[in-house]
Amino acid sequence: MNPHTLRKLTITGTVNSLPPDKSISHRAALIAALAHGTSHIDNFSGGLDNQTTLQALAALGLEVVQTIHNDRRTVRIRANGLWSLKPAANAIECHNSGSTMRMLAGILAAQPFSSVLIGDASLMRRPMKRIADPLSAMGAEVALSPAQTAPIRITGSKHLRPISYTSPIASAQVKSAIIFAALHADGTSEIIEPACSRDHTERMLGLERECLPNGYYRTRVSGIATLPARHFVIPADPSAAAFLIALALLADRSELVLQRVCLNPTRIAYLDLLRAAGACIAVESVQDECGEPVGSIVVTTSKLTTPLCISGKQTVASVIDEIPMLAMLSALATERFELQNAEELRTKESDRIAALVKNLRRMGFECEEYPDGFLVRQRKFVPSAPVHIETFGDHRIAMAFHIASYCAGAELVLSEVASIPVSFPNFFESTESTHYGLELC
Ligand code: S3P
Repeated sequence: MNPHTLRKLTITGTVNSLPPDKSISHRAALIAALAHGTSHIDNFSGGLDNQTTLQALAALGLEVVQTIHNDRRTVRIRANGLWSLKPAANAIECHNSGSTMRMLAGILAAQPFSSVLIGDASLMRRPMKRIADPLSAMGAEVALSPAQTAPIRITGSKHLRPISYTSPIASAQVKSAIIFAALHADGTSEIIEPACSRDHTERMLGLERECLPNGYYRTRVSGIATLPARHFVIPADPSAAAFLIALALLADRSELVLQRVCLNPTRIAYLDLLRAAGACIAVESVQDECGEPVGSIVVTTSKLTTPLCISGKQTVASVIDEIPMLAMLSALATERFELQNAEELRTKESDRIAALVKNLRRMGFECEEYPDGFLVRQRKFVPSAPVHIETFGDHRIAMAFHIASYCAGAELVLSEVASIPVSFPNFFESTESTHYGLELC
């Protein structure tokens, strides 16, 4: 489709085929790997990152069986308690998945053998000291490259010590790595983080979490409990939903219903930001499923009238994966966007601050880059020639600019889209199937 002709795009429909949540899928598989007996995970994600976690568990000797029926995946994992894993024959390939590498490292820290974790070029550049420090303090031997990145060489200890650890960053991957290690330690551990990162691991394990007077959050974990085999049902991914919501908001007339979406408050702060900026978004039919609120998101035609400005440390932590979408949307709708206190965004699958600034500038936006964010001031020109968008192999950058291509006013040509199945394998089908009554200008 030619983007120049799509300014009157109408988005209507009910979507019940969003990808299952990536974060919850990873955790369900990892918790099943520590349980006693056979766990069943219904609606497991077919995203490449989640498949990487399953492959890693199989490489570590677990029985992992995946069946697909009508596009819905069910995974069965049989384990024999906290110490079920066996040494892998080779280095464990984590591909593009930081969640696999960091959270699995927490489990491997407690296994009495050596493992090596590797990944693709993007993952091999990402910081790993953040997990190496606490896992070493608990008694594992963890070695990193001189740049403090993977390969991660871990020799686990069957006798990990409990820890009281204050993380310098709000990271659910770091917190979960420590929680998984702490399940194997004899005693109570506590993990304190400067803002509340996504709390799926706590919910799935029934852990206590509290907000401290200084605004930090503390999670407590008691070790060496027996985890029973479980039955998990994975809801749809709110971070994937965000891209379809953006498409509906940018369209001329839309009414889109996204069903069975995870509405965990640590994941849907972006809906509040969009509402405050003028978007008409409602949530309906909310129910508790496996400890997570799950319901429908209804988006109707509304244009953003107020530019987005994201700066609070809690807000940044709560919308960390949606910033590419929010920046693109705010820039296109209001010609303004500001982000601060988000240096973490430089450590994702790409340096997302640099990636967004570079591409928005190419689209004609005047941007100022900060160490921890950026400002979009105005659109100085609308390019007449096709604009080359560099995705840096990052699925969320690719999806954000694919959505932008519908109403950028200029033709956007993405350097690649092969990264998108990392989190959203049916992205193109989902975006195309929501088009209805397409009107050409
Ligand atoms: C995730 C946590 C976040 C997020 C990532 C998934 C998780 O990373 O960006 O996509 O499932 O725990 P950090 O823990 O590095 O913030």
